[in-house]
Amino acid sequence: MNDTIQSVIRSNAAITAIGTYVPERILTNADLEKLVDTNDEWIVQRTGIQERHIAADHQFTSHLCFAAVQNMIERYNVEVNDIDYILVATSTPDAVFPSVASQVQAHFGIENCGAADLQAACAGFAAAIQLANGLLLSGAYRKVLVIGAETLSKITDYSDRSTCILFGDGAGAFLMESSDDGSGDVVSMYSITDGARGHQLYRSSLASAIGDHAIHANGLIVQNGREVYRWAVSHVAAGVKQLMTRSNLSAADIDWFIPHSANMRIIEALCERTGFTLDQTLSSIQRFGNTSAASIPLAIDEAVKAGTLKQDQLMLLYGFGGGLTQAGIIIRWSL
Ligand code: UT7
Repeated sequence: MNDTIQSVIRSNAAITAIGTYVPERILTNADLEKLVDTNDEWIVQRTGIQERHIAADHQFTSHLCFAAVQNMIERYNVEVNDIDYILVATSTPDAVFPSVASQVQAHFGIENCGAADLQAACAGFAAAIQLANGLLLSGAYRKVLVIGAETLSKITDYSDRSTCILFGDGAGAFLMESSDDGSGDVVSMYSITDGARGHQLYRSSLASAIGDHAIHANGLIVQNGREVYRWAVSHVAAGVKQLMTRSNLSAADIDWFIPHSANMRIIEALCERTGFTLDQTLSSIQRFGNTSAASIPLAIDEAVKAGTLKQDQLMLLYGFGGGLTQAGIIIRWSL
């Protein structure tokens, strides 16, 4: 079936390795019951989350990236010294600058390499794959490391029961290389942004307003859950459909749907509205919570480890969240 699928964009990129890492410490729903007025039943019913992994005090996003890349090296025996660009999608960099990507470059001693962080919140990993495809296609770069990584626990308000039950920490890395024969695995891509709704989900930094909306300048995640939920089930579902239409594909043509793991109920609603079945859908929500830019690679790696993903299968990756922004790609799994 997939041999007949034609790319609707130009691509010469192939995924050649994957690695992931989550911190050791686990925060269960029972632990959260001790912090805020909540309970396991509510959390499981409303979100599908059972536990999340939380970074230690001394662990920051760069450390999670180092571990994910090390995991990739050990599993796929890949060379990292000749990587020529590192892109890290994160909303929780250790520092605004230097970038996390530059810390990854230093940690692995990669000599001739560009590095930049990309901030597109929960759409970050899919957006980074889109950009990596462009970098490879330009011919200026041949080997790009793409990482989605977060330590959301560092910016979570553990006195706000409507957000603190959601978020977790983790990192996932893809190595993407230009293929020797010029054929590529990225079949299609799509992005759309609604910045007018930016104030519905934010973490403050320098300003005390977003557009005309005054915000809480406390450096922690603030979310209007109901509004983001409504946006996700309507606008994100429309975005997924738009990506498929532009690719001349339907859910039946695609083997795996990997939406950002925001909330299990959102994933179920997206499936209902786009034609994917839950059996076709991969998520990392149950064991890892919402890990923003890391949620898609974590979900994919669970399937890789379980032997569920097969070479040449088609996957639709779809990130959405803070911005509010969306980024989706259809890609052939080449490992
Ligand atoms: O990744 C970035 C994108 N983010 C998202 O996609 C998140 C989108 N939003 C959501 O996932 C959901 O809106 C939440 C999980 C955040 C909340 O679920 P909900 O079903 O939308 O709940 P709600 O906000 O409508 O609140 C329902 C009730 C409220 O009580 P009242 O006003 O009905 O008495 C809340 O105060 O549930 C209450 N509530 C809780 N109860 C127990 C809110 N949080 C909790 C809690 N435990 N943790």
